[in-house]
Amino acid sequence: MPTGKAIAILGAKGGVGTTTIAANLAAEFAANPDQSVVLVDLNLFLGDVGLHTGIESGPTVLTVIASDTAPDASALARHPLGFSVLGLASDLSDADEVPAEAVVWLLDSLRSQFDCVVVDAGTDLNEVSLTACRYADDRLLVTTEQRSALIGAKRRLHVLSQLEIPGTVALGVINRAHADSGVNPAAVHQAIGLTVIARIRNAWADNQAALTAKKLLREHCPTANVTHDYTQITRHVRY
Ligand SMILES: Nc1ncnc2c1ncn2[C@@H]1O[C@H](COP(=O)(O)OP(=O)(O)O)[C@@H](O)[C@H]1O
Ligand SMILES: [Mg+2]
Repeated sequence: MPTGKAIAILGAKGGVGTTTIAANLAAEFAANPDQSVVLVDLNLFLGDVGLHTGIESGPTVLTVIASDTAPDASALARHPLGFSVLGLASDLSDADEVPAEAVVWLLDSLRSQFDCVVVDAGTDLNEVSLTACRYADDRLLVTTEQRSALIGAKRRLHVLSQLEIPGTVALGVINRAHADSGVNPAAVHQAIGLTVIARIRNAWADNQAALTAKKLLREHCPTANVTHDYTQITRHVRY
């Protein structure tokens, strides 16, 4: 019986920081020693969880689905911060369509072995991302303060609201937030109906340096303000 919780991270448009949030959130959850965590890349044709985590080995989403055998937690690649990673081939050479049933099966297999399954669902709305969102326990919609991203968030929220998801359709995260932008959680809720639970500040230098070193923020700059911003999310989403 699957008992773990799955959280799907969906971006309001490309480049808003979906993978950054998914990977650093997995690290944040894994900081709780009582919790086993796996990060899964379901951004099938453009996924780059490997780039963000530095993990490019081990079984991939596509090899696990092709084998039709539930992935053994101990066989998955492990990040130094204590979570497992089920990514994609770094050259995306085995990228292929995946049917909705396979997504549900994969999520259930992982939930039976991990307390927390963090899914990078990318930014596209397709069968894989929508199935992941539908069958996850929670959905985080990542946006920035830019008008185009907010419009993307509104459109995705509308599509998600048609999936007959029990409970809250999605919770919002504003990434690259600027203190003086005027785009605060109340304004976003009023404009597009999204409940914002966290603002991750704009921290270009820290994020670029971490990416270059293939490290996550908790490894590269554990005491930086942007690293602490992630605790806002875990406070709202407790597993
Ligand atoms: N809070 C932030 N402040 C500054 N830059 C950020 C922040 N979050 C992400 N970035 C940068 O934005 C770029 C896109 O991030 P990424 O997570 O790959 O986006 P997506 O998965 O939505 O395409 C990367 O260079 C990343 O380092
Ligand atoms: Mg991405």
